[in-house]
Amino acid sequence: MGRAGFGDWEHGTLPAFHAAPPVPRTAPVGTREHPLPLIIDSDPGLDDALAIGLAVARPELDLLAVTTVGGNADVQHCTDNALRLLHAYGRSDIPVGEGAPGPLTGEVVRATAIHGESGIGRTRLPPSPVAAYPDGAVALMAQILRESPVPVAIAPVGPLTNIALLLRVHPELASRIAHLSIMGGSIGEGNTTVSAEFNIYADPEAADIVFRSSVPITMMGLDVTHQALLDGNAARRLRKLGTGSGSIAAELVEFALDRERAWYDAPAAAIHDAVAVAHLAIPDLVSVAGYHVEVDITHGPARGRTVCEGHPRRLSRSGRRPNADVGIHLDRGRFEEVMVDAFARLP
Ligand code: RIB
Ligand code: CA
Repeated sequence: MGRAGFGDWEHGTLPAFHAAPPVPRTAPVGTREHPLPLIIDSDPGLDDALAIGLAVARPELDLLAVTTVGGNADVQHCTDNALRLLHAYGRSDIPVGEGAPGPLTGEVVRATAIHGESGIGRTRLPPSPVAAYPDGAVALMAQILRESPVPVAIAPVGPLTNIALLLRVHPELASRIAHLSIMGGSIGEGNTTVSAEFNIYADPEAADIVFRSSVPITMMGLDVTHQALLDGNAARRLRKLGTGSGSIAAELVEFALDRERAWYDAPAAAIHDAVAVAHLAIPDLVSVAGYHVEVDITHGPARGRTVCEGHPRRLSRSGRRPNADVGIHLDRGRFEEVMVDAFARLP
């Protein structure tokens, strides 16, 4: 029997939705010999914190900066968390720039119910010896893009406000962005409303600007990030590393598990943001398909939905072409190995 919705003619069902076939990735991938220059734009954030650790640990990535945006928590918390996390991971040399406190328009949306008021649960970290970059996130990203000898990848893993501002204030730098590996959206249902995933729902207008831009995009939506699960066993493996970073990662996962159990009675937590980062370091972890993605910026029940069209006839009929790779599948066990291996490399 075919999977519900995919259709199974022998059993008299037609597909209820279209699943676009896998396609070769368009995102670049770093190598040990040629690490991919990377900026992470984030709202740390339990999974953001794990994604930053992954980026620091992977030799295929050269993390040039972390910028922050209000999302999971207030932007001041996110900035302080980013500084303290990089210090804990042994990389307080990586600059942090603070960005937009809230969306371009509309009301502020937070996810402190999941991430805690501080943004990183019950984790308390020593202060960083360094301060945030004085001119803020957009100026920091622009300076890096201007000065880098090669185009720089950006992994936006929070609301897309900073990226929209970067594209509006510095349109000449769009061509210096190698790729946007975005955690956000979904082909199917959302997680903040039935229509919208949090990062998009928190600033749909910014997401609309980004998806309409010429910059190449991979969208790691909930369809694939809900396969990137860590459970209590993974937390125990992280804690058994016996390092400061391993303990931090274990505590972040344990807090996420507590909230997932309380909210959804689920035995595992999706480490959404790490998928957007891992894709840039590992060529075959995530399979992708080509979709035309459009963001609903109306003010009705679909606000913040990433409308993903992958049906070839409908695309040609409307004259549209795919504007994004969309994450479809990853192997959960392999993802867990990637995360434990990464934190085994940190102090
Ligand atoms: O919907 C998941 C996204 O929202 C992740 O980026 C998580 O950190 C939250 O920001
Ligand atoms: Ca995030």
